Amino acid sequence: MIRPSGGPPLYSEINTSVPSSARIWNYWMGGKDNYEVDRVAGDEYSKVAPQVVTMARESRRYLIRAVSRVAGELGIRQFLDIGTGLPTYDNTHEVAQRIAPDAKVVYVDNDPLVLVHAKALLYSKSPQGVTEYVDADLHDPESILEAAAQTLDFTQPVALMLMGILGHIRDYDESTSIVRRLQDALCPGSYFMHYDGIDTSPQLQEAQQGYDNTGALQYVLRSPEQLTAYYEGLDVLEPGIVSCPLWRPEPGIPALPTDVYGGVARKP
Ligand SMILES: C[S@@+](CC[C@H](N)C(=O)[O-])C[C@H]1O[C@@H](n2cnc3c(N)ncnc32)[C@H](O)[C@@H]1O
Repeated sequence: MIRPSGGPPLYSEINTSVPSSARIWNYWMGGKDNYEVDRVAGDEYSKVAPQVVTMARESRRYLIRAVSRVAGELGIRQFLDIGTGLPTYDNTHEVAQRIAPDAKVVYVDNDPLVLVHAKALLYSKSPQGVTEYVDADLHDPESILEAAAQTLDFTQPVALMLMGILGHIRDYDESTSIVRRLQDALCPGSYFMHYDGIDTSPQLQEAQQGYDNTGALQYVLRSPEQLTAYYEGLDVLEPGIVSCPLWRPEPGIPALPTDVYGGVARKP
């Protein structure tokens, strides 16, 4: 486990009096690693915008399909997953190492509870694979790249994953700059995988405003056009940047669009 930020003992950093993004997401996904304050904030949100529970669960299904495609047919063996979240089911390393047991996965998050649970991620790796955890902040992509380079070889293709995290960067220009700086560190043949919530539903906007007033880390819903700009200069794979359930849905399972958009792209 790599902890460039240092700091005080972990347990003292876990604040159970304000909701946390990772813990609410865990609650909506049906996980158990959350506190009363997270469940209250999560229920307040879903009362106004019930689709958020579907968004959380569909985004995980999308992550599973996207990682399976990239580790499978596209042959990628290195993953940098920034904004890990709390381990629930089919976490990135489990999906990747099921397909490619030698896959290397570096997770990055800055939530202290995620850091505590990272031990579980590290122990559940495949015997041949590598799973590492970096405690760092997306606002400082250079530190992330430096720490990840202890495990990943950036002269070989890497799948950079920014799943449900860029909305936490409040300033859009800063989020774009972070994406560029991370993508610039990747060699040709690498992949960019991403999803975020979109701003086209009035209910979701209203619920988000309520959530942002709880003292939790704020999240900015953005337009599909703004999200599409993160993929500039890359070759976007079919079917494009779409509502996550519509990204290569499992045959025979009905796919209904929801307010979370994502895509997968290759660096030429
Ligand atoms: C909505 S959750 C998504 C979790 C996971 N990627 C998934 O798809 O299930 C967002 C995650 O980003 C993390 N996060 C938010 N801001 C961050 C930052 N500035 N640096 C590192 N991690 C951050 C949160 O702690 C949380 O675990």
